Amino acid sequence: MKMKDGFFWGGATAANQYEGGWNQGGKGPSTSDMMTGGTHTVPRRITRELEEGTYYPSHEAVDFYGHYKEDIALMAKMGFKMFRMSINWSRIYPTGYDTEPNEEGLKFYENVFSELEKYDIEPLVTISHYETPFGLTEKYNGWASRDVIDHYLRYCDTIFNRYKNQVKYWLTFNEINCLTMPMGGYLAAGILFEGTTELGNNSSDDPQVRFQALHHQFVASAKAVQLGHSINPDFKIGCMIAYMTTYPNTPNPKDILLAQKKDQLSNMICGDVQVRGAYPGFAHRFFEEQGIKIEQHPDDAETLKNGCVDFYSFSYYMSIVESADPNVEKVGGNLLGGVKNPYLEASDWGWQIDPEGLRYTLNNLYDRYQIPLMVVENGLGAVDVVEEDGSINDDYRINYLRDHIVQMQEAVADGVDLIAYTMWGCIDLVSASTGEMKKRYGFVHVNKDNDGNGDLSRTPKKSFYWYKDVIASNGENL
Ligand code: BG6
Repeated sequence: MKMKDGFFWGGATAANQYEGGWNQGGKGPSTSDMMTGGTHTVPRRITRELEEGTYYPSHEAVDFYGHYKEDIALMAKMGFKMFRMSINWSRIYPTGYDTEPNEEGLKFYENVFSELEKYDIEPLVTISHYETPFGLTEKYNGWASRDVIDHYLRYCDTIFNRYKNQVKYWLTFNEINCLTMPMGGYLAAGILFEGTTELGNNSSDDPQVRFQALHHQFVASAKAVQLGHSINPDFKIGCMIAYMTTYPNTPNPKDILLAQKKDQLSNMICGDVQVRGAYPGFAHRFFEEQGIKIEQHPDDAETLKNGCVDFYSFSYYMSIVESADPNVEKVGGNLLGGVKNPYLEASDWGWQIDPEGLRYTLNNLYDRYQIPLMVVENGLGAVDVVEEDGSINDDYRINYLRDHIVQMQEAVADGVDLIAYTMWGCIDLVSASTGEMKKRYGFVHVNKDNDGNGDLSRTPKKSFYWYKDVIASNGENL
């Protein structure tokens, strides 16, 4: 099987995990810059002030800031058609609430986009990917405040105008549905309560504040879509959902209903608002049952209706299983864990690998929304071994990606309009959940370890050559 001509094969990154240069060129600190490293079992700490002697992985990350030409040349060598990246909001507006943008920051991305243009690589730009300016956290408690909508729109206005001839595809928020989970409060919205000292520590979570923040992002996203289209009618602006495909553990109707509820509340709620332009009925019931009252301005409903996205994008790493029985064995996962699925293998970080789940998900999404879909993250976080001769033989990664691409092709044969696949972390970068370098996704190895040692040199892995062939054959040679 092959993909349609014009299919966007590529890779994805995010500035907070990839770019580094955290205080260079006038950039201000972001929420990510205040997070220490962690591991699979030790959570990342969030520090309100930077601690001397503590290692902060995002500060240098893998220095795309200083290596962008080399990295883009490597992507071009693989034949990339699309590169997903994010703009560091705090590189453009260092505190988030400044009134004038930082020219040096704007220039940096202009150079990056020119470099991509040189190789005919289409940029796909995430406007906000876990990198809220920390100034907005300090001043407003992040997206908890409605005031942040205007700051976000000023930022959008600046980048839309500046890059209107260089960028066509945009994503308003990375994994916006992360805010349906406690972990998303700080990660996706910069909300920092007194007493929150660790990423994923839920003790000070307040669902009322979190869902209100989500509403603010919905409104901001809808306004950004309208603004973008008014600046350049050719813009294609999408949503981005962390898709957690959910199965019932047994045919027990209780399990089936529970799985459906989870699917609605963690996956569908955001797609429904952003694609269809209104909160679905199940959301109203959920808010009522939880005592959550979403404060809305009178014109919000109209704004959501008029700001529907042009395409739907999502990350897909794994599936989860839900059970009404509290005694069944649990496993970890991307944002959300679940019950152990005996039919699936898991990665070293406990994420259950489910390629067929991708076909199932693509079909469900297309049946529901009927707009073009993009898989903008998918990949295997694994420990790579550099052999004595310098080679990295990551057959496990090739197998993971091949199995998922096969299922994507099946979905296309099922009639799904899939237009892009940007595999996650195409060049090794810092893990979002753990802050590690050890959890690698890339086609290109970066010489750097968990403590920040290494010369940042880039080495293509075996998967680099494999993916090059996949792209050259438009998916035929897997
Ligand atoms: C997604 C995020 O949730 O998963 C990325 O959008 C993240 O930022 C990716 O890196 C993989 O997760 P992790 O924790 O392995 O880096």
